[in-house]
Amino acid sequence: MAQRAPVKLGVLISGTGSNLQAIIDAAGRGELRAEIRVVISNRAGAQGLERARRHAIPARVIEHRRFPSREDFDRALAEALAEHRVELVVCAGFMRLLSPVMLAAFPDRIMNIHPALLPAFPGVHAQQAALEHGVRFTGCTVFFVREGVDDGPIIVQAVVPVLPGDDEERLSERIRAQEHRIYPWAIQLFGEGRLAIEGRTVRIADFPLGDESLALVNPRSPHSPRLSRPH
Ligand code: GAR
Repeated sequence: MAQRAPVKLGVLISGTGSNLQAIIDAAGRGELRAEIRVVISNRAGAQGLERARRHAIPARVIEHRRFPSREDFDRALAEALAEHRVELVVCAGFMRLLSPVMLAAFPDRIMNIHPALLPAFPGVHAQQAALEHGVRFTGCTVFFVREGVDDGPIIVQAVVPVLPGDDEERLSERIRAQEHRIYPWAIQLFGEGRLAIEGRTVRIADFPLGDESLALVNPRSPHSPRLSRPH
């Protein structure tokens, strides 16, 4: 079978860009067949812009404040992405809600990542919300963007435990490490043409199925033979 061409990405950022870096690094290691055609930030000072420039990736600033409406901003975004022949739009810490203008320009071709197990804790401060709720597990979710806030068909999730003594920073760090694993992988699955959206569900072709041993208990249960400590 002929190998597919690397998927052409446009990455949207607002800040640090550690997920952008993870995508750049995964592509560098050959785990992700992708070409980042452009990085666009809605904030001029975003650290992620520097990361792009360091890797000779075209980096642009399109400030949302300069546009009278969300739709006008989205039209400018869509035009810039089309100019760079982008196939898949990757939101990586991009803190703007996209309007139907962008969704129509890239139907089923916009991904996002969120630091919680959606549909729990959408919106900002998801890690703090998880701590305040007292959940034993949280994590991160890669999904296809729809009109709602952090709402859309789920592609991959990773679970992390919430541990005694966690604060927002420690928990965020633990989640971020998993984000950096699953985002490049989700993009690779898209690039391989293995993702099919059916309603709210994303089917993954040739998906290696897990089994019941994937179930997690936190705190560790002394009654589970699989989890008991060796004597
Ligand atoms: C990530 O933790 C991502 O999940 C979150 O912003 C952070 C960006 O970090 N996104 C959202 O909260 C979207 N609702 P980064 O700039 O270092 O990649």
